[in-house]
Amino acid sequence: MTPTLILSFLLSILLLLPRRNILTTAADGKWDLLLSDIGISAMHMQLLNSDRVVIFDRTDFGASNISLPAGKCRNDPSDTALAADCTAHSVEYDVASNSVRPLTVLTDTWCSSGTVMPDGTLVQTGGYNDGDHAVRMYNPCSDDSCDWREINSGLTQRRWYATNHILPDGRAIIIGGRRQFNYEFYPKISTADKSYNLPFLVQTNDARMENNLYPFVFLNRDGNLFIFANNRAILFDYVNGSVVKTYPMIPGGDPRSYPSTGSAVLLPLKNNIGAEVLVCGGAPRGAYVNASNGNFMNALDTCGRIRIDDPSPQWVMETMPTARVMGDMVLLPNGNVLIINGAGSGTAGWEYGRDPILSPVIYRPDNPLGSRFEVQNSSSTPRMYHSTVVLLRDGRVLVGGSNPHTYYNFTGVLFPTDLTLEAFSPSYLDPEFANSRPQIVSPASQSRIGYKQQIPVRFTIPTGRVNGSSIMVTMVAPPFTTHSFSMNQRLLILSGGNVTTVGNSTYQVRVMTPDSGNLAPSGYYILFVVHRDIPSVGIWIRIT
Ligand SMILES: *[C@@H]1O[C@H](CO)[C@@H](O)[C@H](O)[C@H]1NC(C)=O
Ligand SMILES: *[C@@H]1O[C@H](CO)[C@@H](O)[C@H](O)[C@H]1NC(C)=O
Ligand SMILES: *[C@@H]1O[C@H](CO)[C@@H](O)[C@H](O)[C@H]1NC(C)=O
Ligand SMILES: *[C@@H]1O[C@H](CO)[C@@H](O)[C@H](O)[C@H]1NC(C)=O
Ligand SMILES: *[C@@H]1O[C@H](CO)[C@@H](O)[C@H](O)[C@H]1NC(C)=O
Ligand SMILES: *[C@@H]1O[C@H](CO)[C@@H](O)[C@H](O)[C@H]1NC(C)=O
Ligand SMILES: *[C@@H]1O[C@H](CO)[C@@H](O)[C@H](O)[C@H]1NC(C)=O
Ligand SMILES: *[C@@H]1O[C@H](CO)[C@@H](O)[C@H](O)[C@H]1NC(C)=O
Repeated sequence: MTPTLILSFLLSILLLLPRRNILTTAADGKWDLLLSDIGISAMHMQLLNSDRVVIFDRTDFGASNISLPAGKCRNDPSDTALAADCTAHSVEYDVASNSVRPLTVLTDTWCSSGTVMPDGTLVQTGGYNDGDHAVRMYNPCSDDSCDWREINSGLTQRRWYATNHILPDGRAIIIGGRRQFNYEFYPKISTADKSYNLPFLVQTNDARMENNLYPFVFLNRDGNLFIFANNRAILFDYVNGSVVKTYPMIPGGDPRSYPSTGSAVLLPLKNNIGAEVLVCGGAPRGAYVNASNGNFMNALDTCGRIRIDDPSPQWVMETMPTARVMGDMVLLPNGNVLIINGAGSGTAGWEYGRDPILSPVIYRPDNPLGSRFEVQNSSSTPRMYHSTVVLLRDGRVLVGGSNPHTYYNFTGVLFPTDLTLEAFSPSYLDPEFANSRPQIVSPASQSRIGYKQQIPVRFTIPTGRVNGSSIMVTMVAPPFTTHSFSMNQRLLILSGGNVTTVGNSTYQVRVMTPDSGNLAPSGYYILFVVHRDIPSVGIWIRIT
């Protein structure tokens, strides 16, 4: 090659480079402010089958920015902030009308956990102080009549920072919490049904800062529970109380659980394929102690992915575009994972997060290793400690909360208490895809389906042109979200036959419903039809 040829060759490479960069750093998605003041900071959230989201923070934050209904007050001498409090610490957000109404929670819900039961009732457990043994129920309603009901000593142990999961038998399991190296069930089956030891929580308890709170728990298709705490995991048979499998430590050995808060999801479940777990972000060992001395260590920038059914499972590590602690992971209707909120340094805990990460990232599990992450458009609102995220039926992602302070502090602090609700709309909601977006015709929303059945799903496509091989039917269990973890979150990709034309722009695909309650515990799910990665608005279905 002559020097000129070499030069033009190099130039052409240089010219190609920026294009590649544009591809890998493509900004996408859209942010909308929904409400500027819901009165409380969204520390815990759960979407119910009424398309309402129950939101609550803690009773001892002091006076919130929303009053209890009709002159009600809560008189609680044990409240650590305000013994007579006429403000609400829980609200119900109605997606359709984009409005909130106050709810009445009496005992302290701080750092608690929850599960939606098979009948659609939210059962929320534990908290702090006078609420640490409480069980609170919330039945969805579509008028404004529903409110919390509380059972003050519904739990055997105090549960503060515990994780819940719904079980195939319709009960909830409640695992761990501060200084609780055990688990229990709700409801109890007998008076002898109390709590059961879980030595794994002793083994993963770091001396100075537990690093194993809010463990990441997933129900595996074999009926066992995958439990990740600190830097490792077990497969646990909760019926026999035995460890079925011990997974290797996550490479690097840094903790991923509270307060080194990373996040985790069970990747989309497909028929006859082993389940995979993805754990992302967190903070290095020592980060909490360092943060308490004003030294905010960089968050972890790695994810570990593991096939939990493999005979000798190994973690495969991947690097995120940005380091993140206190990020949330949300399964999107098309099977991609949204990683959103959180900080670039510090840890969970009062005042311990720094460098908010404003750009979400989408992770595409089926892309080849090395090309799975895509950075999204950024928000302008830091979402630090005590922020939450849930997927809505229309495909938007509801984002709220952030309060790293022991009170509501709106001024004079680094990250003011946030009372807003925002929506992040992934690019699949862009108007340019409207013509590809399926619309479900049948089944009707709120239909009941059984296990192991073939059901027809009918939908229309506006253009009247369907790419049959890109059609996917998915089912998402709406999770209980707090402290960067979404309990009970799971997405199933239903196996389907060919897409047939049944009318003008109307198509049908027959899909198999899940084959067992291990794969999909009975209860309410949102069913989506996905066409070329673009999801329909979902419908509620109840599997029994
Ligand atoms: C998102 O990012 C794209 C590409 O950078 C940009 O064109 C678009 O305006 C952004 N949208 C919003 C709502 O910020
Ligand atoms: C709290 O409510 C008052 C009015 O009721 C409003 O002026 C103020 O902006 C609210 N605070 C926040 C942080 O939204
Ligand atoms: C519990 O152990 C018994 C006997 O070892 C076994 O037959 C049974 O399958 C186990 N239960 C579960 C849920 O694995
Ligand atoms: C604090 O961070 C430094 C490095 O930044 C590290 O050497 C030290 O061990 C950390 N402290 C603790 C208590 O882990
Ligand atoms: C936060 O709010 C509490 C209660 O209103 C107040 O006592 C405290 O001084 C505030 N902290 C800061 C840093 O403003
Ligand atoms: C149809 O969808 C399949 C699967 O996503 C894809 O491989 C194929 O390229 C698509 N065909 C067209 C014409 O877009
Ligand atoms: C689906 O279509 C393919 C190609 O037309 C055909 O080979 C296959 O048998 C069909 N499957 C079913 C279940 O009808
Ligand atoms: C088919 O449906 C489209 C849109 O719904 C409509 O515009 C068109 O007239 C219909 N064609 C027939 C033949 O019914």
